[in-house]
Amino acid sequence: MDNRPIGIFDSGVGGLTVVKEVFKALPNEKIVYLGDTARVPYGTKSSETIKRFSIENADFLKRFKVKLIIVACNTASSISLPVLRKKLRIPVVGVIKPGARKAVETTKNSRVGVIGTFTTIKSRAYEKEISQISRHIKVKSIACPLFVPLAEEAWLSDVITRDIAKRYLKPFLNSRIDTLVLGCTHYPLLKNVISKVVGKKVTIIDSASSVAEEVAGILKENNMLSSSTNKPRHMFFATDAVEQFVKTGEKFLGRKIDKVRRADHV
Ligand code: DGL
Repeated sequence: MDNRPIGIFDSGVGGLTVVKEVFKALPNEKIVYLGDTARVPYGTKSSETIKRFSIENADFLKRFKVKLIIVACNTASSISLPVLRKKLRIPVVGVIKPGARKAVETTKNSRVGVIGTFTTIKSRAYEKEISQISRHIKVKSIACPLFVPLAEEAWLSDVITRDIAKRYLKPFLNSRIDTLVLGCTHYPLLKNVISKVVGKKVTIIDSASSVAEEVAGILKENNMLSSSTNKPRHMFFATDAVEQFVKTGEKFLGRKIDKVRRADHV
């Protein structure tokens, strides 16, 4: 048994979609969440910069003696996992592999679509993970950068959002995909509009629940689950604009956030 907290970081509020699933799957675990709101977005930045930010974020979480780190950001997961795993002595879980695995399990016609930020799509991280599981699957990827601010504004079913979704997702309409991976923390909020555009026959994969399952598996296998039966006291940190984090964060988390502190490492 291991009562140390789980550390989770993202470039901002989006990673709270992962926290929501971890709360469901592991209700006794204490979470320390860090949103790097001072430096968001990561999705347009270079690999070197994203690696540096990821190491700094992990170092901040280590101050809380975390037993495992979840890199909730797809962009950071697609770039920084090797360097973080080399540096840290605790398990580091990213969001790409669980999403890729779920897509492979779901597709029936071996045609999968992936959407994400510029950097995630450019890294081809999903293609690489999917081809490691199954060589026969065809993957078509599209970057949809405007989805991030739309989700943060909570313009979830506005006409403008539908029009932007139609424009981005048009190439999928002739590609016969039957599965679409939401490869960005923010996109689960836009799931309805995305689903309407690509059609009911396309199954939408949101990796957050697969990540939570993977973490639960690692903790169980290694006898690292928390033995505490008290309600855990989670901690939320942001590197800037703490009040805005609370406002937007509650939409992503789907529940109240009592307190957000300013992280001082940036
Ligand atoms: N968290 C990022 C991701 O999942 C989206 C926002 C950003 O670009 O930083 O890729």
